[in-house]
Parts: sequence; structure tokens; C-alpha cells
Amino acid sequence: MRIRTKELLQDALKWALPLALLTSAACAGRDPASPPPPPPPDQPNAPTAVSTTPSTGVGDVNPAPNHPTAKVPSDLPIGVSPVLYAISVAPGQEPTPEQVKLGDKLFDDVRLSADNTVACKTCHDPARGFVDHEVTSIGIGKKHGQRNAPTVLNAMFNATQFWDGRAATLEDQAKLPILNPVEMGMKSGDEVVAKLAAIPEYRKAFLDVYGREVNYEDVGRAIAAFERTQFSGNAPFDRFIMGDDKAIDAQAKRGWALFNGKGRCNECHAGNAVNPLFSDQKFHNIGVAAKTSNFADLAREAQGAVDRGNQEEIDRLALESKFTNLGRFLVSKRHNDIGAFKTPTLRNIAVTAPYMHDGSFATLYDVIDHYNKGGIVNPYLDGGMQRLGLTEPEIDDLVHFLGTLTSERYDAYGKTEMARMNGKKGQRPERDTLVATGKKGDTGDVGPTPDAKIKDPSSDGVYGVFDAAKK
Ligand code: HEC
Ligand code: HEC
Repeated sequence: MRIRTKELLQDALKWALPLALLTSAACAGRDPASPPPPPPPDQPNAPTAVSTTPSTGVGDVNPAPNHPTAKVPSDLPIGVSPVLYAISVAPGQEPTPEQVKLGDKLFDDVRLSADNTVACKTCHDPARGFVDHEVTSIGIGKKHGQRNAPTVLNAMFNATQFWDGRAATLEDQAKLPILNPVEMGMKSGDEVVAKLAAIPEYRKAFLDVYGREVNYEDVGRAIAAFERTQFSGNAPFDRFIMGDDKAIDAQAKRGWALFNGKGRCNECHAGNAVNPLFSDQKFHNIGVAAKTSNFADLAREAQGAVDRGNQEEIDRLALESKFTNLGRFLVSKRHNDIGAFKTPTLRNIAVTAPYMHDGSFATLYDVIDHYNKGGIVNPYLDGGMQRLGLTEPEIDDLVHFLGTLTSERYDAYGKTEMARMNGKKGQRPERDTLVATGKKGDTGDVGPTPDAKIKDPSSDGVYGVFDAAKK
């Protein structure tokens, strides 16, 4: 495929212009003496005074005027949005160095688990992209949960936490794994507090940082403060989109074009300067679990438990029961959320294999093969899923592009991981080229079919079944 420089330039402008505006506006927010700069005269739709005062509403990217905001650090790397920072961190919630130090220590400490063997770090290892590279995570006593560990990098910007969004904040999230029987297995918040308060250095640290005795809320607060320093940008893609044409190669540029074009990835993973996470923060059924679950039967069976469950019980249903694949339904109780999971960020995706909520895809090739065939048909499949008809070189381009989203911190690790996945290119359990190219199966879509023999658009997709009758 040919790369059209003009279009790529327009893409870059879409990111660079608002980013320049927002950065300067966010700076203005830190320094009340300097007024926000006026929008350039040739940009009638340019946001005026954006982010001098963004609202603190979670997921609300329309800054509300006259709302106090968090202080945005002046040294955010490119690819980390100051506006999203101001939206995601409530005023007064800016992490202090003392809170971060305590949170970091707690994050690494196995004593937060029942048998002193598992820390947050066990499943979210900072050296390995804050994941464990297990299909599904392993907690105390080698107990397996049912879900794959997502990265903590940029989790501070998630509108909701967990694959199904069952926790609203980082504070809420942190308190759950400590008490989950297949993760860290403590009996109650009180038990955790008693254990920590008996350790003199913790008792002193909590008194110093929060001015009171150890309590479970502050445990969550300290860990969240640490996580709010784990923003991650400065990937080759960021340098490219900010104007350094040499930051990524021609193959990655083709991949970026496919991402926004034939691959339709931007339908759910769009990125822009305000929200550069490559996630719409919504929940979709893309058919990952459909190969093992009969969703309708499961939902009927789960209904009672879901209706009764409090947050800790839902946490257990999600991690320990066969209902795990119901996804967002466990939280929202809405049938159209059956099998739907949160669109994850694609930043640092090269270093967080295996993929999906159940870790069922070993490589990025498996991921693209899944999308190429339009996902797996089920009654709740998202309408955005269509077979794509990507050729093998196009799949290579997309995978290669995803490798440019790795931040500088994981540059070397990202290259090793990309090479490892490349080595597995011959093993493609998810590949079904006939389905992907519309030559087999009938997914009921009207997606592209590269079969040159089909000239009449009405014979595409589901309507194709009437072909025989027409003749
Ligand atoms: C036994 C492994 C394990 C341990 C220990 C663990 N986690 Fe996780 N973590 C997971 C898994 C698995 C998920 C996804 C679960 C789900 O979505 O249902 C997750 C999800 C998260 C998320 C949500 C990220 C997102 O994108 O939605 C955050 C944040 C997180 N963990 C932080 C922590 C913190 C903080 C601790 C320690 C208090 C911790 N985890 C302990 C395995 C673990
Ligand atoms: C209809 C919305 C939608 C579209 C279109 C879509 N995705 Fe996704 N993506 C999701 C959701 C939702 C998940 C998580 C699904 C799950 O775990 O069950 C996901 C997961 C992923 C993952 C795994 C992330 C991880 O941390 O495990 C990758 C990689 C990915 N998508 C890349 C792509 C690419 C590349 C494209 C285009 C070819 C694409 N997606 C198109 C919604 C979408």
C-alpha cells in the first residue's frame, strides 16, 4: 500500500495542534499570572481556554469552566495528555513524594498477602511492563484466577478499573486483590491493618504520611498515589505524530494507515491528543470468549448471583467462577453487556503478552487473526466487528505498527518481545484466511470481500446466501 504523505500530515496535525494548545493551556493552569493563549485565527473550531479548568468528572473530556483542577506536572512526557491528567486526578489527589514512597513499598510487599508470598508486584512486575505474562494470574497457594493481568501503566487514566470496570477508582481497585481468595487472600481490611500496624516501620510511615494510625482506606490511597506516577508516553509513535518523520519506519506508517482504515481498529481504539490511550473506555463483545461459553445459558444462571452480589462478591464471580466470561454484564446487569469487556489501552502492548481478558491469545498475530475473521459470532457480538480481508503483509504491517507504541522505558524489552512474537509467526491458531476474506462462513456482515468475482454489492455478506436462489 502507498503511503500518502498529505494524509499522514493531516493525522499529525490532528494530534499536534490540540496538543500544543492544551499543553500551553495546562501550563497556564499552573501559573495564574499567564493568560491562556488565544486559539490560532485559522482554527474556528479550536477549543478556547481548554483545560485551564477541566472538570474532574471521570471520563468527561469536556472541561467545565471554573472548576478547580489538579496541578499538572510540568515534566509529562509526550504522549501523556495534560488534559487527561487534569481530568483523571482530582484536586488534592496529586501524589506527594512521601505517599508515593509508601505506596511503592506496599506495592512490592508480600506481607500484604495471607501467606507472605504474593505482592501486587508478583502479577504487575514493573520490570516486565507491570504484568506477569501468565495466561491468567496465579495468586497464593498457586491458585489460578480466571483473568489476565492488565498493565498498571497509565491505569491512572482509565475511566473505570478492571476488564469489566467493576471498580471506579484506583483506591477502590487496590483494596480488592488484597482480599480476594485467589490473589492475596487476606480475610478482611481489619486483618490487613492489624498486620501492618504490628510492623513498626509501617506504623511510623502511615503516621508520618497521613498523620494517623494505619487504616485500610489509607492503604488504598498510598498504593493509588504510587500508581498515579506510572504514566507512560514517549514512544516512537509519539515522536512521529509530533512531527519527527523518521521516528517510525515505512512499515509502521503503513500499519498506522491500516489501523485507521481497512483494519477499522480506530472504531474502538482511536487515539488523539486529548486521549492518547488508544481506548474508547467503553465495553464491547468482540467474541473472545464465545469459543468456550454459551452466553445466553450462562447469563440466565448467573442472574440471581449478580442481582444479590456486593462489590466483593462480584469480584469473586469475575475471578473464580465460570461466569467470568459474562464480562460487563456481571456489573451492569444489562443483557447487551454479555461478553463485553473494556477496550484496553494499546500503549506498551508489545510488552504485555498474552492478550485479552482471558489471556487466550499468545501473540499480536493471534490478535489480528481474530479481528481479521470478524471475531467469533455470538448473539451479543459488537457491530463494529466485521471481517477485514487483511493480507499477510498487511497483518505484518499492523503488528509492526503496534510495536511503535512502546515507551522509551521499555524500548529494549519491547524489541525482545516483538522478536519473540515474530518467531511464533508460523503458529497461528486463530488464523482463518477463508473466513477473513469472505470465502467461507457467513457472519451476517456486509464487510469487505476481496473476491473480485462479486461485483454486485447486494451479494455481499448475509445477502450472499440468496445467490443460489437468484440464479
Ligand atoms: C494474583 C495476581 C494479582 C495480584 C496479586 C494483583 N493483581 Fe492487579 N490485576 C490482576 C488481574 C488478573 C487483573 C484483572 C482482573 C479483572 O479485570 O477482573 C488485575 C487488575 C488490576 C488493575 C486494573 C487495570 C485495568 O486496566 O483495568 C489494577 C490497577 C491493578 N490490578 C493493580 C493491582 C494492585 C495495586 C495490586 C496489589 C494491591 C494488585 N493489582 C494485585 C492480577 C493481580
Ligand atoms: C468493536 C471494538 C473493537 C475493535 C473494532 C477493535 N478492538 Fe481491540 N479490543 C477491544 C476490546 C473490547 C478488547 C478486549 C476484549 C476482551 O478481552 O474480551 C480489545 C483487545 C485488544 C488487544 C489486546 C489488549 C490486551 O491488553 O490484552 C489488542 C492488541 C487489540 N485489541 C488491538 C486491536 C487492533 C489492532 C484492532 C484493529 C484490527 C482492534 N483491536 C479492533 C475492542 C475493539
